[in-house]
Parts: sequence; structure tokens; C-alpha cells
Amino acid sequence: MDFSVNQQALAYLASAVLFILGLKGLTHPATARRGNLYGMLGMLIAVVATLLGREVQSYGFIIAGLAGGAVIGSIVAMRIQMTAMPQLVAALHSFVGLAAVLVGIGTFFHKASAGLLNPVLMGEISAGVVIGAITFTGSVIAFGKLQGLLSGAPVKFTGQHLLNALIGLATIALAVHFAMTGSLWSLFLMTILALVIGVTLIIPIGGADMPVIISMLNSYSGWAAAATGFTLHNNLLIIVGALVGCSGAILSFIMCKAMNRSIINVVFGGFGSDGGSADSAGAQAAEKGVKSAAVEDAVYWMEDAGKVIIVPGYGMAVAQAQHALKEMMELLNARGVEVKFAIHPVAGRMPGHMNVLLAEADIPYDQVLEMDEINSEFPGTDVVLVVGANDVVNPAAKEDPTSPIYGMPILEAGKARQVYFLKRSMRPGYSGVDNLLFYQDNTYLVFGDAKDTIEGMNTALKGGGH
Ligand code: TAP
Repeated sequence: MDFSVNQQALAYLASAVLFILGLKGLTHPATARRGNLYGMLGMLIAVVATLLGREVQSYGFIIAGLAGGAVIGSIVAMRIQMTAMPQLVAALHSFVGLAAVLVGIGTFFHKASAGLLNPVLMGEISAGVVIGAITFTGSVIAFGKLQGLLSGAPVKFTGQHLLNALIGLATIALAVHFAMTGSLWSLFLMTILALVIGVTLIIPIGGADMPVIISMLNSYSGWAAAATGFTLHNNLLIIVGALVGCSGAILSFIMCKAMNRSIINVVFGGFGSDGGSADSAGAQAAEKGVKSAAVEDAVYWMEDAGKVIIVPGYGMAVAQAQHALKEMMELLNARGVEVKFAIHPVAGRMPGHMNVLLAEADIPYDQVLEMDEINSEFPGTDVVLVVGANDVVNPAAKEDPTSPIYGMPILEAGKARQVYFLKRSMRPGYSGVDNLLFYQDNTYLVFGDAKDTIEGMNTALKGGGH
């Protein structure tokens, strides 16, 4: 059965609507699952409508590709840890970029052999190939940095921005030359230079800014897909590419705003490091004048508290402490203690990171509050438990104009009566900046893996009172 052009257009329209509903659903944890379902259904309709289209001449390679992709995708999706999600996303973006490059070059040869080349088509091919190539190598470097295969520290050298600008200008010149002449050499050189830009653009960016870059590359991959849509005269690819391009750009903007940085500063700033060294946390803390406390001390104050706020961060994700936290919430609730969770917009390593993990542990959404909703509640709170978070509560962001995180809005945990940090060492957070809150009179550090510490607290809470 072949689809007519009109039937295919209608199916594509239905997919496009489902993709938009999917994006809308993903804006809130309560509707995110439904949003995902809409997206999956939209993609199913899109794939089936494309396969039934008249332009498909044989199914052999397509089925082999689908089967291979489905098997690899399923295995990777089942094995991936939540904390490794950013690098998986980077890897997937690299495929989109590579596909755009290959489709562009393939279309060039296909149309050239049929004598159907024209400047508009070649302009579209240039856009798809250049953006795709930058996305490809940029995402590979981002993957390498996040996976620890490459150093997370910024790689910088003199004249770097000038070099990038020169390569960028040369690429544009070659793209224009290719569009006007169809020169194979221009296409070849343009592709190589765009691949180089992807590397030189991403290596100076430090690990701390990688999530923003992943989101930016997500946006690029969307624009590469949209350009490919023009090349292939596929309206759905244009729509989907534009949706991905815009949502990625908006997400990068939101993240930059939450860190009080500009995208220019992220791309050219070289911010962040690989982090310091661990070792004998207690001794280091004492040396620095930081007070450490035992599990029992924190429990002593929490069980008689009126209100406890838990601030989860990246360390909660590393420790997978969300289920233990759910149990702690129930134990405290049973004692009449009010428990809330405070989420900073950039807590963890990707947008919504904490929300996803807390939802996984079935922590009710109405107990999970965003920064703006909960900041006024800290002064009336007895105990704040900072579980593997660091930068998002660091008062240096407000008090130290020389700090790299100065200007970032923070969760005002320090205003509570007592603050307990659950972390393993005196190592700083992802920005590499020392936390001024450690030195405050009402702050204590409970050293250890967050999950072990919370489980210890739960045992003490179950053991009953003092
Ligand atoms: P961080 O400031 O990175 O601090 C994480 C803390 O978790 C560290 O203090 C670490 O200390 C602790 N930790 C790690 N593993 C642990 C474990 N198993 N048990 C207990 N503690 C553990 O995290 P945050 O407060 O969530 O801030 C996020 C950072 O990422 C910010 O700098 C933000 O700007 C950046 N960032 C985030 C995003 C998004 S979208 N989320 C985007 C761009 C940048 P120890 O090593 O001593 O345990």
C-alpha cells in the first residue's frame, strides 16, 4: 500500500501536532510521561507515513537499519545511568549531525548524476552539511569530556578566538562558492573545516558549562535536521528540526539565566574545572575551620523539628539516594515533621534532573518546590538537609563579586536554623568554587556517601527518639 502525497501530508500534520503536544507535556513533571507518549506516537506515525511514501523504492536497507538501531538503542537505554544521561544525549546529537552531513553529500551526488543541481538546492546542502558537521564533532568532544575520556578542564591557547573566526569565515566562503559552482572541492573543504570548528569551539569550554553546550548542540542538531528537510523537500523534518532548534535554544537561554551567565560567556568563558582532590575529609574540614557532625546529631534536631527542607543536588543523583530520602520523608512525616524539597533550576547536571529522580521515588509533586516558591520559607525552617548539592546554596554567588558564580540566584539555605551538608569530602561543587556556607556558625558537614548517610539516619529515626 502506497500513501498518496495528501495522505502523507495529513499524517505528517498529525505527527507535528503530537510533537508540539509532547513538548508542552514535557514542561511539567506531572505531564512529562504523557508528553513522552505523544512524542513516541508522533514519531511512529512519521516513520510509518515516510516508509509508505512513494519515494521509498526498497525496504531491505531500511529494515536492517531500523532493526540494528532498535537493538542498540534498547540496550543503551536499559543500561544507562541517570547521571550519564548528558553524555548519552551528546552521543545521540552527534548521530543527528553525522546523518545531516551524509544526507547532504548523498543528495549532492544523487542530484548531480541526474543533472538536477541548482544554487538553491546547493545552498540548502551547504547549510545542512556545515551545521551537521559542527554538531557532529562538537558533540563527540562534549561526549568525551563528560565521559571523562578527555579532560573536563577548558583547553585554551592564545589566538584561539581569532583562529575560530578565520576558520568560520573560510567555511562560509567555501559554502557560498559551492552553492554557486557545485565544486566538489569546495564541498569537501567546507565539510572538513566545519568538522574542525566543532572541535575548536567545544574544547575551550569547561566541564561545568557542558550541560548548556549540550543544549546548544541540541539546538544545532535541530537546525541541521531542518536544513536536511529543505534538501529532501520533507515538511515534517523542517517542522521537527525547527521545534528542536528553538526548544534547544530556549533551554540554553533558561540555563544561562539560572546561572546568571550569557551564552557568549559560556562559549568563550572557559569556566569550570575537573575538581580538586578528596582525602581525609574530616581533617581537612577541621583545618579549614569547618564543623563536621555525626548522623545522630542531625537526626537529633530533625526528629523534633517543625519543618525540614531537603536540598538535593548532583551528589544525590550520584549516590542514588532518592528512595532513601522518600523513606526519610515518611519517617519524619509520621513524627509530625513537615518535609519539603527545594529544587534549584540548575541543580544536578541537566534541567529537571532532580525532579526526574524524586518522581522516580514517588515523592509527591506538591512537596517539591522550585527556588522562587521556597526561598521565603528558609528563615522559618528548623533544619535544611543539603544532599549532595553545593554550588546552588553557595552564598558566594551573592556576597563575593570576584567569585565566578557571582550573580547566580541561590537557594537561601543558610537562613534556616541549622544546615547539614551530606557530602563525601571537602571537594568543591562543579564550578570548583569553595562554599562560604560551610563556614557559617549554623552549618555542619556529615561526611559520607549520601545514600549511606540517609539510610543511617533512617535507621536512627526508626530506632526511636532520644
Ligand atoms: P555541585 O555544586 O556540583 O555539587 C555536587 C556535590 O555533590 C559536591 O559537593 C560533591 O561533594 C557531592 N557528591 C558527589 N557525589 C556524592 C555522593 N555519592 N554522596 C554525597 N555527596 C556527593 O551540585 P549542585 O549543587 O547540584 O550544582 C550543580 C552545578 O552544575 C552548578 O554549578 C550548575 O551551574 C552546574 N550546571 C548545572 C546545569 C543543570 S541544567 N543542572 C547546567 C549547567 C551547569 P563530594 O565530592 O565531596 O562528595
